[in-house]
Amino acid sequence: MQIVILKDAAQVAEYGANIFIEQIKNKANSVIGLATGSTPVALYQELIKKNQQNKVSFADVTSFNLDEYLGLKGDHPQSYRHFMGEQLFNHIDIDVNNTHVPPGDAKNPLTACNAYEDKITKAGGIDVQLLGIGRNAHIGFNEPSSGLTSRTRVKTLTQATIDDNARFFAEDEYQPHLSITMGIGTILDSKKVVLLATGEGKADAIKDMVEGPLAAICPASALQLHRDAVIVIDEAAASKLADTEFYKHIEAENQKLIAHLANLK
Ligand code: GLP
Repeated sequence: MQIVILKDAAQVAEYGANIFIEQIKNKANSVIGLATGSTPVALYQELIKKNQQNKVSFADVTSFNLDEYLGLKGDHPQSYRHFMGEQLFNHIDIDVNNTHVPPGDAKNPLTACNAYEDKITKAGGIDVQLLGIGRNAHIGFNEPSSGLTSRTRVKTLTQATIDDNARFFAEDEYQPHLSITMGIGTILDSKKVVLLATGEGKADAIKDMVEGPLAAICPASALQLHRDAVIVIDEAAASKLADTEFYKHIEAENQKLIAHLANLK
């Protein structure tokens, strides 16, 4: 895992956005994996800004979102499809037909899950997958005890996740307790993964993911198995890690190597 510890949420968003921008500059028809939640919003704003400045184009990009609430149609204001439109798709030059979010209104959710996996495979797999992390270390909606090789499927949400996400729903509004989510195995198949986390509320989850044992009870710990996982966090989210100085030292050395390689070109 590459652990990148930055000062604040703004730097985290910029660092994360640059990974996607470089990916798309190198391969215009990249397949990117996207996430919802509050954390990626600043990264999406960065992508919108760069797109509007004509510094990057999404015209040939295909996207796959991690998850969706089961029981919500795409036009429901709390659906992740709607969120993606509002936060990103409506503001960039991506072809909406090339954007994929699991169908929350699928008549047969089981076939819909398999069809989602097939679409990812047909697109050639995901080049870079963006991730947030839940306070219980879930990724996508893979809650604790999720199989480490799981594929896209229906997942029941924990009460903790329902409570965390209640802030997006009105008091008397129906809040789903089921989801369709890419599995941990699906996420691990991405060529690169970039996980963003900010704030003290994520510090325990980050510690367990990076320094705890690989275990289904901590779904994000599965990223320890990934050959190219970049964990971009602010000081607050890093505050419970045992060895932040070492991670900062490694990252400084990485940056020197990158500069050296750029000079060779
Ligand atoms: C939801 C999403 C996750 C996201 C998590 C954390 O549960 N399904 O993909 O990582 O929320 O969200 P936030 O960034 O708002 O803390």
